[in-house]
Amino acid sequence: MSSATVEQQYDVVIIGAGAAGLMCAISAGQRGRKVLVLDHAEKVGKKILIAGGGRCNFTNLWVDAENYISGNAHFCKSALSRFSQYDFLNLIDKYQIRYEERAHGQLFCRDKASVIVDLLLDECSLAGVDIHTEQDIQSVHKNESFQIQTQNNHYCANSLVIASGGLSIPKMGATDIGHRIAEQFGIACTALRPGLVSLTLNSSELNNYASLSGISVDASVSHKTQFFREAVLFTHKGLSGPAILQISNYWTPGDHIEINLLPDTDLQQQIEQWQQDKPNTELKTLMSTLLSKRLVEWLISLYLENKPIRQYQKTEIQKIINSFQHWQIMPSGTTGYSKAEVTLGGIDTHELSSRTFEAKKQPGLYFIGEVIDVTGWLGGYNLQWAWASGYCAGQAV
Ligand code: FDA
Repeated sequence: MSSATVEQQYDVVIIGAGAAGLMCAISAGQRGRKVLVLDHAEKVGKKILIAGGGRCNFTNLWVDAENYISGNAHFCKSALSRFSQYDFLNLIDKYQIRYEERAHGQLFCRDKASVIVDLLLDECSLAGVDIHTEQDIQSVHKNESFQIQTQNNHYCANSLVIASGGLSIPKMGATDIGHRIAEQFGIACTALRPGLVSLTLNSSELNNYASLSGISVDASVSHKTQFFREAVLFTHKGLSGPAILQISNYWTPGDHIEINLLPDTDLQQQIEQWQQDKPNTELKTLMSTLLSKRLVEWLISLYLENKPIRQYQKTEIQKIINSFQHWQIMPSGTTGYSKAEVTLGGIDTHELSSRTFEAKKQPGLYFIGEVIDVTGWLGGYNLQWAWASGYCAGQAV
């Protein structure tokens, strides 16, 4: 320690002033713990501010372990039941924050997402929490207590909580510090990859694919046994929209996804009906009554022959159904961490207590939020995980 460095003693130091870190600080501070939150960014809760397109989808009415992906499907259950969506709603009500329910139970602020950051900062202040921003964490060590060195301060604490989030959106300050600290203490991490992310297609194999850019379809997208019914958006690079972001959490390179562009239509019956009622009308014209004309023309040019509907035989009808309702597509990749909403994988849940989030091998060291191998669906589930894991660790530190 240099002579200019000031040593500061806390009960709890939390690295990361995002959703999980701030909630943990509130929970621990309310118990009378002396808490400090450190962040390298100039302001706290940056991802909360951009969440939900600036309206922050802060939780969901229907939270269940099934909405999360993890190496251990049961790990999230304890925390989600101990700090539920209703507990967070109590805070929302305390601060009279205006919100609305959107599709699938998603709860969004009616005003700017900054109301959520203000709520967290007010609660931190009431709980006597210190927050130091623009802190470059240079080293973390443990002797009798944890020693944290930043560019001009030295901090000591009996409990160290890592709430540094995932790798998505590096330009907003995401780093791998949490994964590096885990490695330093011999704590295993599962493989990391971008989640809730758009999928790219090898467009050179898909003739004139870029012409579809901007089309949005209410579709059902599936990968193995998992499926999502939401909008699919065609982009220049590939596929996006909520249904694609959701399925991206389950997709791994080399896998197909299947898209049903007409999930509410019995296409077999519809074609038989057309063959009776409009036998001379071409497939393209008829399908364009159900879907975007540009998309219909493109799919037909790629997979089918266009002719009057009466001319299609049984096997050709099956081909039409396959093209529109079992459209198999092999993404070439994702748009990566620069565009992903979350990071899949992280600190191996087997290394942590699901009740306290303390590392089994390293007493006093805790991991919470997105840095852990628990990833939620789109829809407020990731923030609910941050609130729940943060609250529970805050009760234990
Ligand atoms: P979070 O990322 O919030 O916080 C980590 C903190 O650690 C940051 O403040 C960061 O600066 C700090 N940090 C990182 N490295 C550091 C270092 N080396 N030194 C010091 N500090 C460091 N979820 C949801 O439920 N509803 C939604 O509407 C959205 N919307 C959304 C939109 C976009 C564009 C993104 C990218 C993500 C979402 N999410 C979301 C996901 C959600 O934002 C995310 O899962 C939570 O913020 C995770 O909370 P954490 O506290 O774990 O990490």
